[in-house]
Amino acid sequence: MFEELKIAPPDPVFGLAEMFRADPNPAKINLTVGAYQTEDGTTPVLNCVKQAEKLIHERQTTKNYLPIDGTATFASLVARLVLGEQHPAIADGRTATAHTPGGTGALRVAADLLHQQCGTRRIWIGNPTWANHPQIFKAAGLEVLWFPYLTPDQRGLDFEHFLDALERAESGDAILLHTVCHNPTGFDLSREQWMQTLELVKSKEMVPIFDFAYQGFGEGLDEDAAVLRQYFADGHAGIVCNSFSKNMGLYGERVGGLTLVTSESRSQPAVLSQVKAIIRTIYSTPPQHGGAIVETVLSDSQLRSEWIVELDTMRRRIIDLREMFAERLAERIPDHDFSFIRRQVGMFSFSGLSREQVIRLRSEFAIYAVESGRINIAGINSRNLETICDAIAKCVEQTAEC
Ligand SMILES: Cc1ncc(COP(=O)(O)O)c(C=O)c1O
Repeated sequence: MFEELKIAPPDPVFGLAEMFRADPNPAKINLTVGAYQTEDGTTPVLNCVKQAEKLIHERQTTKNYLPIDGTATFASLVARLVLGEQHPAIADGRTATAHTPGGTGALRVAADLLHQQCGTRRIWIGNPTWANHPQIFKAAGLEVLWFPYLTPDQRGLDFEHFLDALERAESGDAILLHTVCHNPTGFDLSREQWMQTLELVKSKEMVPIFDFAYQGFGEGLDEDAAVLRQYFADGHAGIVCNSFSKNMGLYGERVGGLTLVTSESRSQPAVLSQVKAIIRTIYSTPPQHGGAIVETVLSDSQLRSEWIVELDTMRRRIIDLREMFAERLAERIPDHDFSFIRRQVGMFSFSGLSREQVIRLRSEFAIYAVESGRINIAGINSRNLETICDAIAKCVEQTAEC
């Protein structure tokens, strides 16, 4: 029965993490996986989460199933976190939020809903993107169409060609938009570019999916949501897939949210019922513990304030690291311009390194980065910064000599 199966290609990110674990070199450095790390190289449990877990432990009376779409409290808290407390779409009853297993779960349920119920056949995705995006939408049966995102030197947005490509979009096509902290490049649209993009989305009658995996990692929880809040305040319909993996450090708990915004409140019950029908056939109900943590942190004013402080600390650390990284690289390789690293936002940076240079970094210096040249800035710390910059300088020089 399984004899003819071929080995599936390794995941570009998790596959490298496995390779890293297997590397016996004690000086190895991991800049691959998209998890935040502190100065001591760990991915900690946030204090607000630890405290919430204590409260859950004391108060919890059952491990019974959650509703298919999670609890009503979770849905209300998450919709308000994403859209803002006083958002007109919430006030008008135009939203439905389901608790999903991470942002990935939200994206897959959204893809199934579009394909099975909304007649959507195609989705536009910028190139490059998070490697799982095309896989998720293809697995749901959608055709993936690409629009360019970066200039050929990968040091900034190619907005002209981005818009040109979308001129070919048809009514009913979906489009995936990284709301903030673009993964893998770190280059976000400016406010003006967002306005132009969303005008095009509206005029072409496309369905926007806002992937919101990094709320709070750009400028702040509300600032990062400004663009999508504005879009939905104007009465448009669309989808938001948010995640608590990064901003609450709940990676392994698998907790995220799928928020559907309809243009009229009368569509809301049907949309929610279809989402529930889809979830029932995939994972039936969401995992309880992560959802309970999010509910506890967001509903307790003291824990929520503590969360915002901890999130600010993570964001500031990344901004400082980005600054130091760009500065040290410029010192070592003065004839290269690394100022683009300062213009990037969030945990990831397209370093400008070629695939060959990334492979050399791994084989000669045991420094692991994704082959696209993406590095996780949060994997840098004061102990490894100089080593990383020295190694990059050597790889860049060697390539120049070739
Ligand atoms: C752009 C993007 N979207 C979605 C996700 C999915 O996050 P989760 O771990 O919550 O499934 C990630 C995770 O790395 C991501 O980078």
